[in-house]
Amino acid sequence: MLFQPPLARKYAELDGQTLREGIRRFKDQLGKRLVILGHHYQQDDIIAFADITGDSLKLSQLAAEQADAEFIVFCGVHFMAESADILRRGEQQVILPDLSAGCSMADMATIEQAEVAWKILHRAAGMPITPVTYVNSSAAVKAFVGRNEGACCTSSNARQVVEWALRGARPGDAEDVGNKVLFLPDQHLGRNTAFAMGWPLSSMVVYDPAEPDGGLEPEQVRRARFILWKGHCSVHQLFTPEHVERMRARPEPYQIIVHPECAWEVCQKADDVGSTEYIIRTIREAPEESWWAVGTEIHLVQRLARLYPTRHVRSLTDIQCLCTTMYRIDPRHLYWVLEELVEGRVVNRIRVDDETRRWARVALDRMLSLRPSQPVSAK
Ligand code: 13P
Ligand code: SF4
Repeated sequence: MLFQPPLARKYAELDGQTLREGIRRFKDQLGKRLVILGHHYQQDDIIAFADITGDSLKLSQLAAEQADAEFIVFCGVHFMAESADILRRGEQQVILPDLSAGCSMADMATIEQAEVAWKILHRAAGMPITPVTYVNSSAAVKAFVGRNEGACCTSSNARQVVEWALRGARPGDAEDVGNKVLFLPDQHLGRNTAFAMGWPLSSMVVYDPAEPDGGLEPEQVRRARFILWKGHCSVHQLFTPEHVERMRARPEPYQIIVHPECAWEVCQKADDVGSTEYIIRTIREAPEESWWAVGTEIHLVQRLARLYPTRHVRSLTDIQCLCTTMYRIDPRHLYWVLEELVEGRVVNRIRVDDETRRWARVALDRMLSLRPSQPVSAK
């Protein structure tokens, strides 16, 4: 985990208008040398300056296509900036405006834990295992997956990647057909994806890196098809089945759509489940005067509500489900990194070492070579 020291005092004294004007001026001065990427969970004051907005998949693909830009300023979290550095061209430099913008889910699987798990699981499995890591993981974990013949996935393409990882195994096949799948670090995306593909919950076990042997008997590993890492998103885990029930009890005809990082029990009760881009598309294309309760990060929900007032969009709960680390990227930090660039200094560069980069790229390229996906659950 990285730490962002406080900015110099002069930045604290800048008001909103000065910050906005300054960011615009620095952008003009840097021209094509700069591209600013903004994840959909960013606050509006940042999205206003993003050249490209998107979910993790779209941003990692588009970052790779930015041939002209010398500087990629990634308004997202650390693992996203690492992915951009892994996919960058030549001498491009990736900058994260606040180094403390990490991801608690990515931190739930360290490379050391993954290496230990791999040995334990191999001893018990009695057949090949394909490791799959959600892109919400460190570059080191991505490289581990690349070295061990696995791939990355995002919430948009998890189903395609898991299908590929199973090496032909289908629900109902004998235990020794195809491969097992180790899914890191989000147990919920792993479970929701496999279940939507027709695999029963009984084919899945949870590996807890805090327990000896992951908390599993060798026989449990041998019988399982999916080994789900015990990690989760602290934002999406806040949604509960009771929130869905309460929304259904309201007089308005809410349709409930949630992100697959939500728990299985929530996804089962919802009307639809899909990635960030899928949620945006569904609401954009929904009929006028439809009603939507959305289970995902609050900045995106509020933006959808403003953009599409006739879709009556609201959060699935009144608890503010905010990604506090994404929120660390604010106009002050953006102003600071751009001012430094204009003055010829690169601050907060995110660099992945060459060996890690090589293998993480293998895992990302395997993912990017697969076709675009269906939503996790087409209910
Ligand atoms: P996607 O951008 O892949 O939908 O993931 C959501 C998320 O939690 C990003 O950190
Ligand atoms: Fe990580 Fe969840 Fe925040 Fe995404 S929303 S960056 S998974 S903590």
